[in-house]
Amino acid sequence: MPTTVRVNLGERSYDIHIGSGIGVGNRWTESDRVLIVTDSNVDAILGAQVEQAIAARGATVARTVVPAGEASKCLAVAANVYDAAIAAGLDRESVIVALGGGMVGDLAGFVAATYLRGVRFVQIPTSLLAMVDSSVGGKTGVNLAHGKNLVGAFHQPVEVIADISVLDSMPPREYTSGLAEVVKYGIIRDATLFERLERDGDRITRIDHATMQDIVAQCCRIKADVVSADEREGGLRAILNFGHTMAHALEKAGSYAGMLHGEAVAAGMLYATALSCRERGLDGSAMSRVSNLLRALNLPAGFADAGHDDAGAANWPSLREAMGVDKKTRGGVPHFVLANAIGEVSVGHTIAEDALRETYEEMVRS
Ligand code: GLY
Repeated sequence: MPTTVRVNLGERSYDIHIGSGIGVGNRWTESDRVLIVTDSNVDAILGAQVEQAIAARGATVARTVVPAGEASKCLAVAANVYDAAIAAGLDRESVIVALGGGMVGDLAGFVAATYLRGVRFVQIPTSLLAMVDSSVGGKTGVNLAHGKNLVGAFHQPVEVIADISVLDSMPPREYTSGLAEVVKYGIIRDATLFERLERDGDRITRIDHATMQDIVAQCCRIKADVVSADEREGGLRAILNFGHTMAHALEKAGSYAGMLHGEAVAAGMLYATALSCRERGLDGSAMSRVSNLLRALNLPAGFADAGHDDAGAANWPSLREAMGVDKKTRGGVPHFVLANAIGEVSVGHTIAEDALRETYEEMVRS
């Protein structure tokens, strides 16, 4: 039986359906004109199948395929998708379907938010990261050369369909990377979830469907609660950025190129946990629990594991500079989400420069 999680946002409320083998849902009607946006990797596995399943409900369906990889999350590729929307005859009543991971969801969502000043879109996430995070909550956008997600819009999907069985055919490293966001939910909001992750490592790493349906649903409940309370990140929603200030800097700084987002988030969460011990009196045992859990889930449990080829203080200036252009800064000063305990965080912390650098240096030495 699928699990349904509701995101309560008044007239923009919607359901997230989570299950194994749940297909494309039943919202489609004969009058629908639909454009599926997907990437070259996902298209090879699911593109034709999803197109046929939606067309079988009577809708008129077209499909456009963008190159796989974060480089496609840009204005030039968005312009190609607008062209595909026009070629497919999409009007204001039409639907854009994002079939893919976070990149596809953000790009297709951005096009849906802006094409004809906004059309409906449905998220069919195919990566764990997209299922638990990026497909829910309406953040859409593209990257600029200066940084990630610097142009975008809030545009909620009308439905999210997360089919756990799809995870079996996706690259294992991508699945593992998504587990970092799952761990994040435990740290920011749910000590019981964190304990379950500590207990169920084996079921999680072999993608046991029932276990993952439960876990994805719990992550979506947390995200739905947070987004329902603070859709536009006026306050509470910032807790979802735990670990992300350093993660975005790692993704940007040269010697970490090639890291997947979740791998950077894992290292970023360790950094945020270390800062929390230093600045917020977080119990030191939390640091070992976080790193042990990350290791058990095959995620980076330190900066060296995160693909840092010359682990050392030399990288600090470029990382610190990269932190300064993140969206979460105010006047170049990063604001951190820090943990008070496993399951509870607070937002908006600024940290002295020495403490930022020393914490990094301690981590690359350990
Ligand atoms: N991924 C963070 C958010 O949706 O707010």
